[in-house]
Amino acid sequence: MNRKLIAMVTSVVAVSACCEQEVQTQMYDGRPMDEIISSLTLEQKVNIVMGTRRGDSNPPEEAPGMPARHFHDPIEDISQGRIKGAAADGYAIDSLHIPSVIYADGPAGLRIAPLREDDPHTYYCTAFPTGTSLAASWNTVSVRQIASAIGEEVKEYGVDILLAPALNIHRNPLCGRNFEYYSEDPFLAGEIAAAYTEGVQSNGVGVSLKHFAVNNQETLRNGVDAQLTERALREIYLKGFERAVRKAHPWSIMTSYNKINGILASEHEWLLNDVLRGEWGFDGVVMTDWWAEENGARQQAAGNDLLMPGTQRQYDEIFEGLQDGTLTEAQLDRNVANILSMIEKTPSFKGYKFSNEPDLEGHAKLSRYQASQGIVLLENDDKALPLAEGSRVAIFGNAGYDTYVGGTGSGNVNRKYTVCIDEGLRDAGYSVYEPLIEAYRIYIDTQKKLHEAASFWALPEIGEKPVARAEADRAAAENDILVMVLSRMAGEGGDRELRKGDWYLTDVEQENMKTILASAHAAGKKAVLLFNMGSVVELDWGDADFFDAVLHVWLPGQEAGNAVADVLSGKVSPSGKLPFTWARKYADYPSASNFPLSPDSDRAVRYEEDIYVGYRYFDKHDTEVLYPFGHGLSYADFEYGELSVKKSKTGLEVALNIKNTGEHTGQEVVQIYVSVPESVHDRPVKELKAFAKTKSLAPGEECVVNIHIPEEDLAIFDETVKAWVINDGVYKVHAASSSADVRCSVEFKR
Ligand code: BGC
Repeated sequence: MNRKLIAMVTSVVAVSACCEQEVQTQMYDGRPMDEIISSLTLEQKVNIVMGTRRGDSNPPEEAPGMPARHFHDPIEDISQGRIKGAAADGYAIDSLHIPSVIYADGPAGLRIAPLREDDPHTYYCTAFPTGTSLAASWNTVSVRQIASAIGEEVKEYGVDILLAPALNIHRNPLCGRNFEYYSEDPFLAGEIAAAYTEGVQSNGVGVSLKHFAVNNQETLRNGVDAQLTERALREIYLKGFERAVRKAHPWSIMTSYNKINGILASEHEWLLNDVLRGEWGFDGVVMTDWWAEENGARQQAAGNDLLMPGTQRQYDEIFEGLQDGTLTEAQLDRNVANILSMIEKTPSFKGYKFSNEPDLEGHAKLSRYQASQGIVLLENDDKALPLAEGSRVAIFGNAGYDTYVGGTGSGNVNRKYTVCIDEGLRDAGYSVYEPLIEAYRIYIDTQKKLHEAASFWALPEIGEKPVARAEADRAAAENDILVMVLSRMAGEGGDRELRKGDWYLTDVEQENMKTILASAHAAGKKAVLLFNMGSVVELDWGDADFFDAVLHVWLPGQEAGNAVADVLSGKVSPSGKLPFTWARKYADYPSASNFPLSPDSDRAVRYEEDIYVGYRYFDKHDTEVLYPFGHGLSYADFEYGELSVKKSKTGLEVALNIKNTGEHTGQEVVQIYVSVPESVHDRPVKELKAFAKTKSLAPGEECVVNIHIPEEDLAIFDETVKAWVINDGVYKVHAASSSADVRCSVEFKR
């Protein structure tokens, strides 16, 4: 077979780029970098490669045998630092014009403290939709826009580096931070992360792409060993990072807490130097995740430039490492140079006078629009939606009145307000059934008092109020439609659990669903189900009567209710598509038997499914799923025209016509999958290689979608030669509306 090794070409390019960088004189503040570095004392250098060392104490053991680390409590941290509530400050040397740079979370919007002592001004930030919702929009244009708004808040509140975007792969639906992450597919994840990075950085502030890499669970996150093949690593777990790095040039990247094949990510020299810098040409700063520490000297030697927020132990280890040869001063200088080069780009360095007045009103509108772009219409039998104007709506479910906006942990945003679903519908002119508003208000208030106050790591779990048949019958009689909201919270620090109330529905939830459906249908009314969560639950309903319309609204940010109303009313036709596969049963997921740990290990997880994550697995094994990757309906109907695929000098030029043949205006997400030649024996049936979201098409309107697929995107990582290889043979290109709904395919020979 004739194959093209492209990794070799890549590494040649990378080597020459490195050499070029070395001969160029690096500057800092107009002075040669080596002059600045040689004027620093060793202590100053060591201070520069770490944050200002907050929260030093005796680190507790996270779990028996796990490396020690601090469980930082940001509530405690917010009293420290130049910008209250930011995650860390850098070290300043005034005489050398090195300012203290400010680092703050996070992916759904800037996270700083909203209130300051003796200060009447407030510092609220906009809560945007969380990661899954952004990815579900498949809209890189709107993601770039909201990220630009986040970047403006970063800059105007005096922060330099945003600790986002987060793009680890949805390997398993129970990962507690899936809400912050994008997808099971690295192409989609990488494209969204690139758009996000470009948006934030267009303001002259930086991002920190996280968590690099293979950080797919929270259980024993500080040291769990992810064991996988280089192919799975390259094709699935690094691919998204690679796209974002090559395309959007993030200022920094954050290593993860876990090990990868036995080596901690923050001490992984091959990953950080050979792959990230050497092959991909990354020229920014590599920082650790917070309090990720095993050995400061080894982290420094591996090319992990910045230790965050830094501990006394790491400080001492660096000096010891310089003594015992674990670390050389040249390596330390290299890291200092990387950090100084980044500092030079920051608003703090430039003396930017921030206003503390970002455009919160304008950003709220963007947040609302983005949330509506991400909502996925999973079912819409007999055109149950959109709702007729002025309909009377009865809402069941706690989250109808106390809507979840984001997850817990460092991804939480201190926002000024939340528009809940009931409020959004009322504001859109619907009459929301009063008896239920009152009943849920009393129920939620009472339940909240019974539970402990919310903490950084978790919110109290409030079970659903049982719905009596008579109550549902009355609601059905007095309203035009019944809406039920099912919710789940998740967050940093823990994975979701295989129990009722988390992955499984509770008995009350199941009973409520049956009751609401029975009452609605007996009265000849429609029933709508909304999922307000960052991931999914098991919903194997069989053939029983089900809701007429089902929507996933995610954790949609502070404008939640308005965005939901926009979609339910038809003001915005739903155009989101699932960024992962929703399997029928937990056991159907290929990682189920190796999550969060492999059965025979208390600290390692074998990625036995290899590259077969999500639809790559379900396609290959022909497993029936509840909803496939990329699925999402619209109020409009789209007709796919003929698919044209032409080879060009740099890859493939794909074009096709999309026509709205329905009665509503709408947008379609066209997905382009490619099947590599059948002669490649170990390969997924097809893989996502491109996508495009059309503009809003009015009924009868059509547009041509043009897509370029670079030739190197056809490569697979060949373990036998340890290189990316483009195989010759017959390829198939598919234009699809979801991974299970291929509309047209074309073959081409290479
Ligand atoms: C999280 C990071 C976050 C950092 C700073 C860590 O616990 O894993 O995502 O950016 O804290 O708050």
